[in-house]
Amino acid sequence: MEIEKRIAELTQIINQANYDYYVLDNPQITDQEFDKYLKELEELENKYPEYAKENSPTKRVGGEVIDKFQKITHKIPMLSLPDVFSEEELYDFDKRVKKEGLIPEYVCELKIDGLSGSFHYENGSLTTGATRGDGIIGEDITHNVKTIKSLPLLLKDKISIEVRGEIYMGKKTLAELNKKRSQANEPLLQNCRNAAAGSIRQLDSAIAASRNLDTWIYHLPNPEDYQIKTQYDSLMFMKSLGFKVNPESKLVKDIDGVINYIKEAQEKRKSLAYDIDGVVIKVNDLGMQKKLGFTAKYPKWAVAYKFPAEEVLTKLKDIIFTVGRTGQITPNAVLEPVIVAGSTIRRATLHNEENVLKKGLKIGDIVAIRKAGDVIPEVIEAKVERRTGEEKDFVMITTCPMCHTKLVKKEGNVDYFCLNPLCPKRNIESLIHFVSRDAMNIEGMGDEIVEELYNLGFIKDIPDIYSLKDKVDKIIEFDGYGEKKLQNMIESIENSKNNSLEKLIFGLGINGIGSKTAKLLASFYGNMDTLMSKTKEELATIKDIGSTLALNIYNFFQENTDLIKKLKEIGLNMEYLGIKQKFSDFITGKKFVITGTIEGITREEIKEYIESFGGYTSESVSKKTDVVIVGANPGSKYSKALELNIPIWDENKIKEVMNK
Ligand code: IVH
Repeated sequence: MEIEKRIAELTQIINQANYDYYVLDNPQITDQEFDKYLKELEELENKYPEYAKENSPTKRVGGEVIDKFQKITHKIPMLSLPDVFSEEELYDFDKRVKKEGLIPEYVCELKIDGLSGSFHYENGSLTTGATRGDGIIGEDITHNVKTIKSLPLLLKDKISIEVRGEIYMGKKTLAELNKKRSQANEPLLQNCRNAAAGSIRQLDSAIAASRNLDTWIYHLPNPEDYQIKTQYDSLMFMKSLGFKVNPESKLVKDIDGVINYIKEAQEKRKSLAYDIDGVVIKVNDLGMQKKLGFTAKYPKWAVAYKFPAEEVLTKLKDIIFTVGRTGQITPNAVLEPVIVAGSTIRRATLHNEENVLKKGLKIGDIVAIRKAGDVIPEVIEAKVERRTGEEKDFVMITTCPMCHTKLVKKEGNVDYFCLNPLCPKRNIESLIHFVSRDAMNIEGMGDEIVEELYNLGFIKDIPDIYSLKDKVDKIIEFDGYGEKKLQNMIESIENSKNNSLEKLIFGLGINGIGSKTAKLLASFYGNMDTLMSKTKEELATIKDIGSTLALNIYNFFQENTDLIKKLKEIGLNMEYLGIKQKFSDFITGKKFVITGTIEGITREEIKEYIESFGGYTSESVSKKTDVVIVGANPGSKYSKALELNIPIWDENKIKEVMNK
């Protein structure tokens, strides 16, 4: 008993010390004292493991290693916010709110440049941490989240709660980390956000622990459960529970107050210890928020104001030409490396000849470039006043830099093309596109590997990718291809056969078809045969598909019937799996309990559906249950699920999952 009491006492002291140090930035004990308590706790826990608590502060150092990230369904979707870039757009937002008959106050918060996370507590104890993922399904990062010292393991009140906020890396931490990486000759991390995202997606929590991640908590998804009526009160409530809530957040009376706050934030930006990329503006009153509601993607009660892109000067060292998968030739700026908005820029696309001539760029010019957040870097203009006379004029090439075929400019088009179907660069780019993440998502086939496998003669076209499995013995003889690496690659190639149709359509690289249009086509026609049977006129009837796109699609399938036939024979899925497939990933291996009646679907049908995706069903709810499906008139299983805080799917959700 004495031991148990001492363990509880030490836990309390250490948690409080972490809170004072990491949340309040106001340490009350010395590092030596802290280390002494921690050591004593570690020793006691080692000696008496029966008293060691799941959420002991000794877990902060990491140690847990997982073999893969489990998926987690967010009970309430994690939405992102619509961006605005000007005062005008802010006034428009204010007008939209007022149009609903509301006179809003706003909470202004700094927009922290990290990644959002969801944190669950049961009886005051941290149980799960998850990434946002696609907003509906995220990844379980509990093992890493427990190493974030500003995130409480135990709350000041023993309540069950979910909070959301930003996981980030401070500027100083990034600088120190990069210093170490540079000494070890490792590639540098480009900016705070990438560094935080990379650190939280580590399988080994000791690595995440060493990265000194931090949090700012800003969102309470279930405020009504705690009788909270405003966003500002929810911030104060979360703060009172022990969360790190940003002190710069401010309640302002009206949109002019917002604009003032933004100006101040912009001035403060450089002196802050962490990166921000804008200001988030939220309607304060939660009743008003409810009235405003949501669009399909965003809440209507908040916007994110993004700071204008940072501009930097550098030297345009050269202009080189690349060949795209459609044969399109693109001039690219080779720049003296320079850091813009947190990442090093060496190259920037110059799009086409006309753009270079319009901007009057000369090789050797000092140019202004900019990059806003995720946006690709852009060369804005040449600083003509800085010319020395040594600069060289830009001259467009006339033959393909890869196969030397004469380039062609199509009528009415500004771009030049290499139309040689055998141009190696075109083929390589097509293959790179086919395996890329938004297309077939084949892991282990990075750009360089694809290029090498092409040059070594192992893959000439798309079907060849699927016969790589018969060539493993030969590939392994080349440098850099370990058995495990190849095995994973082949496995990923085989898995890609089951992808939903839109991934294949996008992967084929039809001119002008991005992943969004591919999804539109797949969901509209349902399968490849139907899509291929459509005339250009029929295709053009789909909203968002103009006559040029329709023609591209039509021509592509006319010219590539053999390719599609081959891919079918190889066993590639030609159906749209849509929402079904997305949820099937989640169902596999999970345990479900059904209670109550769902209109229009029998319990047997639900069971069969779950089992068809490798899930299990059982009759009773326990801690091991992953999801409880709750219909009308549910039994005691429902209350048990609530008690154990097990995710619940209601009638709408299961119908959505089953496409009913
Ligand atoms: S509120 C429905 N508040 O910015 C509420 N987001 O574009 C959604 N972010 O995904 C989030 N600081 O990752 C909110 N103070 C803040 C934020 C913030 C950074 C990030 C977050 C979100 C994205 C929205």
